[in-house]
Amino acid sequence: MTANYIMALDLGTTGNRAIIFNQEGAIAGQAYRELTQYYPQPGWVEHDAREIWDAIAWAIESALTKARLQPTDIAAIGLTVQRETCLLWDRRTGRPLANAIVWQDRRTAPLCNQLRDEGKAEDIYDRTGLVLDAYFSATKLAWLLEQAKKEVDPPVDFDQVLAGTIDSWVLWNLTGRQVHATDHSNASRTMLLNLASGQWDDTLLDLFGIPPQIMPAIKPSVGVFGHTDPTVWGAEIPIAAIFGDQQAALYGHGCDRPGLLKCTYGTGAFLVSHTGDEVARSQHHLLSTVAWSEATLDPLRPHLGYAIEGSMFTAGACIQWLRDGLQIISSAAETEILARNARDNGGVYFVPALSGLGAPHWDMNARGAFLGLTRGTQREHMVRAVLEAIAYEVKEVVDAVNQDAGTPISQLKVDGGACNNDFLMQFQADVLGIPVERPQMLDVTAQGAAFAAGLAVGFWDDYRTLVESRAIDRVFEPSTGQAAAQENFALWIKAVERAKGWAD
Ligand code: G3P
Repeated sequence: MTANYIMALDLGTTGNRAIIFNQEGAIAGQAYRELTQYYPQPGWVEHDAREIWDAIAWAIESALTKARLQPTDIAAIGLTVQRETCLLWDRRTGRPLANAIVWQDRRTAPLCNQLRDEGKAEDIYDRTGLVLDAYFSATKLAWLLEQAKKEVDPPVDFDQVLAGTIDSWVLWNLTGRQVHATDHSNASRTMLLNLASGQWDDTLLDLFGIPPQIMPAIKPSVGVFGHTDPTVWGAEIPIAAIFGDQQAALYGHGCDRPGLLKCTYGTGAFLVSHTGDEVARSQHHLLSTVAWSEATLDPLRPHLGYAIEGSMFTAGACIQWLRDGLQIISSAAETEILARNARDNGGVYFVPALSGLGAPHWDMNARGAFLGLTRGTQREHMVRAVLEAIAYEVKEVVDAVNQDAGTPISQLKVDGGACNNDFLMQFQADVLGIPVERPQMLDVTAQGAAFAAGLAVGFWDDYRTLVESRAIDRVFEPSTGQAAAQENFALWIKAVERAKGWAD
């Protein structure tokens, strides 16, 4: 029997999805389930890793059923995940020691501040390309290990503990607990990967008190990591690509060389620009990270591609907060109607620092704020202010990328769920003053993981043909609204300054 399909597993912050692609790259079936978010204290965000595993196991079955396929029809799986979120688990029982700490979680800000005071920030940046911030996995793993050491009844046997980001957890489960590994793109988000060597950095493992033996093996992003357990899945399907979700979208957009970049509007917004074979350093507070890695003839020397990234922590998450937290909308789509109903923002500005501020501010203690409220403020203004804030934060990062590169970006390629919002996309084009290109298929993250897995097993043979076959839905050109949008940007910057350091 020939396997004629590729499956992408996209494990995002807000939900888990399986998508099956046919040979032409069209979707044959998919299934999605939202993920429970836990907020045990202000600034803390957790996920139940067992729920993630259950959801993806359900999504695999459901997508197969919807597509009327069997596991044997799947030629390969591409796995892509929310990055930085990490956990510890017991290899004997398969049980997580505690909830996973999500990338948005700020509980380790004091540890980061302590390390900064000890003068460690520069060395960490040199080694990892990352700003010392609670966003990354290292301080989260240190926190989880400290908690585990307090367990006395029974005490934790650390020889049996495994650590990992979500990709490692799911890979280990998919392979019937056989493979404990990650790829370079996910590893580069832990603050434990030495960017230049592509290996775990012993100095940093030591600094954060992380025993090397609990860490996963690092393998090339494009290539076979292991196979699904046939006793569970009825087939030995190769897991043939693993990417962090932002890097998967970069791959899916065809951004494989210097100067090519994309912005994904998911839970956060992440602008990533490929920088080629060398680690590039930003002068404007952007991160250096791994784009993805590929095997070479020398198994000890995979080829690493690098990228510059502007990570904005809150994009789709503030729309979700309007729906689930404030409950002033009933669906994300409603924001577009409400924003259009307001003639302008009514002088209202929103600072989307619900999880602190990422690039280019890196302020763990900033908190969200509405400014400019008056008795005339209506729900429409507040909703519009939230959408405008997403576009403004992307504008800040685009400005930083332009300053680093010396040549301004002439067009922005976008993807992710929030791109469905035409108001947001038009406002983005206006505030940037450049066209914004939206593809028909917005799940470029899943598409990228599928392309990589398919190419790794010879299901497809040409990367450029694949990425160029993707259809464009619409190009948003800057409109008459651009002067006002750009003027208001200056006011928004003022609002951001007011929200900084709030939780100090
Ligand atoms: O770095 C966090 C990022 O990977 C989360 O992505 O798609 O869940 O917003 P997303």
